[in-house]
Amino acid sequence: MSIFLERKNGELHFDGFSLSDVAKKFSTPCYVYSKNLITENFKAYNRSFRSKRSLICYAVKANPNIAILQLLAELGAGFDVTSEGELNRVIYAGGDPKKIIFSGVGKSKADIRQGLIHDIHCFNVESMHELLLINQLAGDQNKKASVSLRVNPDINVQTHPYIATGLKNDKFGIDINDAHKMFHFAKDLKNINLVGIACHIGSLIYDVSPFKQSLKILLTFLDKLKVENIHLSQIDIGGGLGVFNTDACQETIQNFSEAISSEFGDRTEQIILEPGRSIIGNAGLLLMKVEHTKRNGDKNFAIVDAGMNDYIRPALYQSEMKIESVTSNSCEEKIYEIVGPVCESGDFLGKNRLMSIKSGDILCLIDAGAYGFAMASNYNSRYRPPEIIISNQKLIMVRKRESFEDITRNESLIN
Ligand code: LLP
Repeated sequence: MSIFLERKNGELHFDGFSLSDVAKKFSTPCYVYSKNLITENFKAYNRSFRSKRSLICYAVKANPNIAILQLLAELGAGFDVTSEGELNRVIYAGGDPKKIIFSGVGKSKADIRQGLIHDIHCFNVESMHELLLINQLAGDQNKKASVSLRVNPDINVQTHPYIATGLKNDKFGIDINDAHKMFHFAKDLKNINLVGIACHIGSLIYDVSPFKQSLKILLTFLDKLKVENIHLSQIDIGGGLGVFNTDACQETIQNFSEAISSEFGDRTEQIILEPGRSIIGNAGLLLMKVEHTKRNGDKNFAIVDAGMNDYIRPALYQSEMKIESVTSNSCEEKIYEIVGPVCESGDFLGKNRLMSIKSGDILCLIDAGAYGFAMASNYNSRYRPPEIIISNQKLIMVRKRESFEDITRNESLIN
């Protein structure tokens, strides 16, 4: 626990607010974020790179709520977007288009056109086909598109296989062995301004060494190109730093940034990072209420009002999330499966948890700010939860709970 998440008289508080009170006020399930914590996390990145030309581009996919984007834009962040929708969110929230990186392996014509219209910082290109398409669409707008080539450095990282992205058989990036000729080809394209080299090796990586390894590979590559008269001005090492817990986040970010910074030495290229989880992960919680408890076979179940549709990571990646009772209570401790109301046995939030739980209790899923609401769905026609941000000692609802009207808005009966 930390100053942001602490118990006072047995009651869990987040950034100064009693979570029982938050649950009473906004009902459950509900996401709660701390503006202070997001700010601290972002600043921890910026601090370490202060003396270098750097751009910290928040990966919007981690949590795209426009209030969060607005806050980060006010702090001077850049943004890493992966669709026209994310790009439009950033612009709407006041983000600077000149600080937007457009990532993604499958950019559509609409995505590319929108990026060109806004004169974004650059596209991180992942294939020859995409490069040619950007060249053509930039020509249609009489523009030169700034482009980095995202190479695939073939690095094995310790993470869930679904979110490792830097191995040569992954769909991402350009095979490092093919990249050399592609840089030469890109340099001569009429509507392309070749500015950099990029990579992203995966997500939820706790160890800094694969990042250092990939940075080394990229720097060697860049130096080789320099000899061949291709001068790149930026190097983008992607996102991916794992969040440990609420305490250690800023320290982890700082250690990571310092390691990268020292590997970078006194080079003059701009260094770009695309952190998502490490900015917002520990700055968000999911509150949920225990609807029922029951015993089936050998197992005790606590059935809560948040399901896999609200938070899918345990079901999808078997991620083990910390879950705590918001109010300590004195009933008997048992080993519980914390499960949701969705009609699937994969709908669980935690397994084998020794807890004291009774119906009506409020539980809290900790470190749930990243890839939480962002991956929520309306499965089982469930209304997605509200999002609350604690800002300047106030609770502000930055997204309402959905209603029946919301979830049927784009549907119609046959006649
Ligand atoms: N840049 C690129 C090109 C990415 O694809 C990603 C994440 C990031 C940056 C940000 O990575 P981060 O710093 O957040 O690790 N849904 C999964 C995570 C998928 C990550 C996809 N790409 C999860 O819930 O664990």
